[in-house]
Amino acid sequence: MSVTVRVPAKVNVQLAVGAARPDGFHGLANVFLAVGLYDEITATPSAGGPRITCSGPDAAEVPLDRTNLAARAALALAGRYGLAPDVHLHITKDIPVAGGMAGGSADGAGALLACDALWGTGASRAELLDICAELGSDVPFSLVGGAALGTGRGERLTPLEVGGTFHWVFARAARGLSTPAVFREFDRLTEGLRIPEPVASQDLLDALAKGDPEALAATVSNDLQPAALSLFPELADTLAAGRAAGALTALVSGSGPTTAFLAPDATAAEDIARALTASGTCRSARVATAPAPGATLV
Ligand code: C5P
Repeated sequence: MSVTVRVPAKVNVQLAVGAARPDGFHGLANVFLAVGLYDEITATPSAGGPRITCSGPDAAEVPLDRTNLAARAALALAGRYGLAPDVHLHITKDIPVAGGMAGGSADGAGALLACDALWGTGASRAELLDICAELGSDVPFSLVGGAALGTGRGERLTPLEVGGTFHWVFARAARGLSTPAVFREFDRLTEGLRIPEPVASQDLLDALAKGDPEALAATVSNDLQPAALSLFPELADTLAAGRAAGALTALVSGSGPTTAFLAPDATAAEDIARALTASGTCRSARVATAPAPGATLV
């Protein structure tokens, strides 16, 4: 018997970053939008687990030890319910690795839901969300999907209305970026500056609720973008290539280095993806629509 869960990637349409807190995390106003690029996690009983395997074009970059959030999710759930973590978790990876699209968080949320179904723990949604928040700041959103405002370190979620389908293009970069390194660069670039409390933009929330891509394009923002560009200056060329190909806006996804392009419609998105791939400024580019559902048993 095995259980498979499909989990979406995310883009942050707003990522407002506050000052570093005493615990080292940064206060955020983080508007998450789940996008239709997915990892799948299959859980199968296996003695002496958790054992992790991974397939997909970037599988070689995925850690298979207990640092993998999928392994940590299985251990956390088993620990809470006094069970042996006897499970093999296979990750079919399609979300860019170390890309700023919450691929690792998706695997954590997916493994948690898959193990929960396999072991029949009867955990409530609230308990699963608690475990997600322990695993990482973006993991609760991977479970719920759709669109949500994340506050605190990003883990406290308020669901948001989305009034239509948005057409995105995502460009994979030639290498990854470490999220802690990008936050450290943010600290370095803002040293000595007064950093305002992060707040969600009402204009951006209205644009999402209306499903209006032009209005959304006019209001997206990412406070981590200067830090990501500072560590990976070539990303500026990818952003420029997407804008030249007709994107309404171009931004770094989360801590990067994946870049995100909002298109006016599905046809334009295909054109932008082709132009980006041909531009030589990224490894590959592909289209995806949003919002996408959260972690789902398939
Ligand atoms: O929560 P998560 O484990 O995904 O965070 C990874 C790293 O990103 C943290 O160790 C921290 O360096 C940085 N981070 C942060 N502020 C946040 C979220 C993450 O500084 N709100």
